[in-house]
Amino acid sequence: MGLKEEVARRRTFAIISHPDAGKTTITEKILYEGGIIREAGEVKGKKGTKAATSDWMTMEQERGVSITSSVLQFDYEGLRVNLLDTPGHKDFGEDTYRTLMAADSAAMLIDAAKGVEARTRQLFEACHRRKMPIFTFANKMDREGKDPFELIDDVEKTLGMDCYPVTWPMGIGDRFQGLYHRDQKVFYKYTKGSDVAEKIDLPDGWKDPLLKTFAHPDFYESFCNAMDLLDGALPPFDLVRFLRGELSPLTFGSAKNNWGVDLFLEIFAKYSPGPQARTSQGEMVEAQTSNFSGFVFKIQANMDRKHRDRVAFLRVVSGKFERGMKVSHSRLAKEIRLAYANQFLAQDRETVDEAYAGDIVGINDTGNFRIGDTVYTGKRVEFDSIPRFSPELFGRLKIKDALKRQTLQKAVSQLVEEGTVQLFFDPLVGKQDAILGVVGQLQFDVLLFRLNDEYKLDVKLENLAYQLARWPVDKSGKPFLGDLKGPSQLRVFRDVFEHPVVLLEREWDLGFLKEKNPDVEFLISI
Ligand code: G4P
Repeated sequence: MGLKEEVARRRTFAIISHPDAGKTTITEKILYEGGIIREAGEVKGKKGTKAATSDWMTMEQERGVSITSSVLQFDYEGLRVNLLDTPGHKDFGEDTYRTLMAADSAAMLIDAAKGVEARTRQLFEACHRRKMPIFTFANKMDREGKDPFELIDDVEKTLGMDCYPVTWPMGIGDRFQGLYHRDQKVFYKYTKGSDVAEKIDLPDGWKDPLLKTFAHPDFYESFCNAMDLLDGALPPFDLVRFLRGELSPLTFGSAKNNWGVDLFLEIFAKYSPGPQARTSQGEMVEAQTSNFSGFVFKIQANMDRKHRDRVAFLRVVSGKFERGMKVSHSRLAKEIRLAYANQFLAQDRETVDEAYAGDIVGINDTGNFRIGDTVYTGKRVEFDSIPRFSPELFGRLKIKDALKRQTLQKAVSQLVEEGTVQLFFDPLVGKQDAILGVVGQLQFDVLLFRLNDEYKLDVKLENLAYQLARWPVDKSGKPFLGDLKGPSQLRVFRDVFEHPVVLLEREWDLGFLKEKNPDVEFLISI
């Protein structure tokens, strides 16, 4: 296969969801459908065992499934699919958001009983700012939950994204019978204990009299009313609006029972976009370009002293990656050899010889890389930097030994540059007593570990009451440098780029700020 064909069949996506919506479960079923694992349904109880590692690593340990962190690759209907891991539990952090920047589409998984939950909304917003196409899977239909219209309403009101139901459920909970596929005119009937659907063709669609012969009488009428309503009110699927992230194909199912996961994959295969172009200094770099380019979106340092390796995760944006290739490093303005690439394939850490636009490669890093770095061949490329995302936990570092304060400041600024944590300072005071912010606790744990291990500093973290950071910008999107009207205690800090940022203790304060400053927008990422 040539470069064009290889690139064209790449699909790279991530799952966004709130903890416990079923991401681990659906991932397992996707792997099963993708032929990576041979048995699904051997899920062991795992209550209370979610450690501060990647969900997938937990899954690997507990389910005897050999998968690796960060990215899973499998072939599906001629496509080569990369599924990126978005750590969601204790290991939720800025990396979770950054990973989304390496994806071309996202699958939003919602618990049908709970609807759109907080974490889903945050992750959605990060995708939405990039106008990323989003699929929706309403999970846990085997349990009592919201009415499908209520769910749609929730998505539309909470997220401002329209839904296009491709399938529609008949019943819910114990009385869930299956899914009607509106495009195919097929009813997929599920039975407890089996993941093989009985496929019932309905040549006349939902109006076909055959449906009534097996449909649950409690639901048949409301089902028909729903279909009638959708047929009348719903315009045909608009691919352009989907690709802009405005319209989401919606399907239902139960990951635990492996009901509807195959249908989700079919919808994914039909609509998901191939590798998207990225901007480099105002110019688009297309995936099909023959020159190689890519950017680093995540760096994972091994905290095990015996294995001090660091892996830089690189999203290939254009062309072809080859092991051992010489590339230019934009920031360092020097040539380096990408000699030790590992790709995290399902079976094992396999050494990868080739990868194409859309793929992710893991590169053993000896300190050359920072988050957002670009590598390329041919004409110079420097991709736009990866945004920073609103931290949720804030703290200040305290060091006992006053003589080591300077070392601490230096160490922190290095770690901030690497993207380990974010730093905010009061412009009147300067950087010496800065506030640090992280998206998830694991980032603080890593920071303290590294200060201790690499810099031999004995530091403590004092937690602060702030809960959110917002970057004020004016209507044209430029940092807002004027005076903000707000609560008297409001202080405006600066981030490392000297952009103004407000740190707030409550969501309520944000509402107040927005109300008092109607001409200012408060961004969750910059
Ligand atoms: P997460 O990665 O998004 O946090 O979710 P995870 O897959 O771990 O699933 C969270 C819980 O929801 C698990 O239950 C899982 O079995 C359950 N679950 C996932 N999909 C479905 C579904 O379609 N229907 C139902 N009824 N439950 C589902 P648990 O009690 O934490 O563990 P377990 O003992 O069931 O494994």
